[in-house]
Parts: sequence; structure tokens; C-alpha cells
Amino acid sequence: MAEVVTERTGAELISPPVAAADLRLPQRLRLGVLASGSGSNFEAIAQAIAAQTLNAQVQVLIYNNPKARAAERAAQYHVPAVLLNHRHYPHREDLDGEIVKVLQAHNVEWVIMAGWMRIVTAVLLDAYPNRVLNIHPSLLPSFPGIHGVEQALAAGVKITGCTVHFAALEVDSGPIIMQAAVPILPEDTATTLHARIQRQEHRIYPEAIALAAQGQP
Ligand code: GRF
Repeated sequence: MAEVVTERTGAELISPPVAAADLRLPQRLRLGVLASGSGSNFEAIAQAIAAQTLNAQVQVLIYNNPKARAAERAAQYHVPAVLLNHRHYPHREDLDGEIVKVLQAHNVEWVIMAGWMRIVTAVLLDAYPNRVLNIHPSLLPSFPGIHGVEQALAAGVKITGCTVHFAALEVDSGPIIMQAAVPILPEDTATTLHARIQRQEHRIYPEAIALAAQGQP
């Protein structure tokens, strides 16, 4: 059985991947990123690609909130950005149907949810079976949902972290690809803790994408 080792670096506990991902994939992955907010995870992925540590290309960024900073970041990296405002779609399936159309039009093969604050439906998951990834700011299955950071603080756990997993119909569920652990410090607020969790998110998301791709036939 594989041993998971944790090492202390400053105020962070890092759990390295059980099987290290080789980020130099033979084939360039065609990614479509879904983001609702700041887009720092989008940028971490774009940086890994620019640094040639992840062999991929972001074909398109889809965002649902007209004010999402992710769209500005996409422009900086010359990634086409498409706004699909969820308020214009009566049902979740309608929005997902439009998302699928945009992804297919941009020749996307992997869907990367990076702070996508909408519940996804079978319309998206069935169009990209085992090819939709999500990142969540807790060690799933603990603290799913939109308040994962606050709930970890309120529960008094001493270690939390982040998880990259395959998306499934149930929110923040599905097979786990990678996790990183982050200790909760006595003086932490949700803001300080989330900032340290995000540093780990930015580290593991590119690796988890490569790892997921390597698991594909
Ligand atoms: C991240 O903490 C992610 O885990 C959660 O939403 C946040 C998105 O951050 N799902 P950003 O927009 O990538 O900066």
C-alpha cells in the first residue's frame, strides 16, 4: 500500500502525490476552463502551460458572471473568453447545453472547473464522461459545499486542504485525483486560511490534470 508522507514547509503541510505526475504529456491536452470568480486557478494552469510544465492548451474560458476577474486573466494569456450568464437560462440543463456547444466548438477534450459556482447536470457530465474535473477548498469528503473553508474553521479541525476530483452529479463528490493538506493555525480567519489553501490549489491543479490524463486509455 502506498504511503502518504507529509512534510512541513513553513506554515504548510504538503502531501505529495502518491504517484508523481509526469507533466510532460506526449500529447497536448485541449482544456476548457469554467470559472465564476477571480480565476486564480485558471491563471495557475495558464502559467504551468506557459512554463511548459504542463503540456496543454486552454482552448476557451467560459464564465457566467459578467464581473468575473477570470475574463481579464484570460485576455492576459490570449485565451478566448465566452460569457454565458446563467441568469439567461431558465434551467440548469439549458446553461449546460450551451456550455457543451461552446466547448465542442472550441475542440475541448477536458473540462476544468476552477471556481465554477454552478451545479452541473448530466447534460455536461454525459457529454464529457470522466473528463470533467473540479477543485474544492477542503479535504473531501469533509466539508463539501460553498462554505468549505468556514466549516473547517467552525468544526475546529486542525488540518484542512484542497481536493481535485472528477466531477459527479452530487456536488463536490466523485473520485479523488489529488489532495494537499494545510494546517489550521490558531489565529486563522477564513481569509487567511483560504489564501494558504489557494497556494496549494495552484500547485496541485496542473499536476492533477496531468495525472488524470495519464489515467486515460
Ligand atoms: C477555489 O478556492 C476553489 O477551490 C473553489 O473556488 C475557489 C476559486 O478560486 N471551488 P479562483 O477563482 O480560482 O481564484
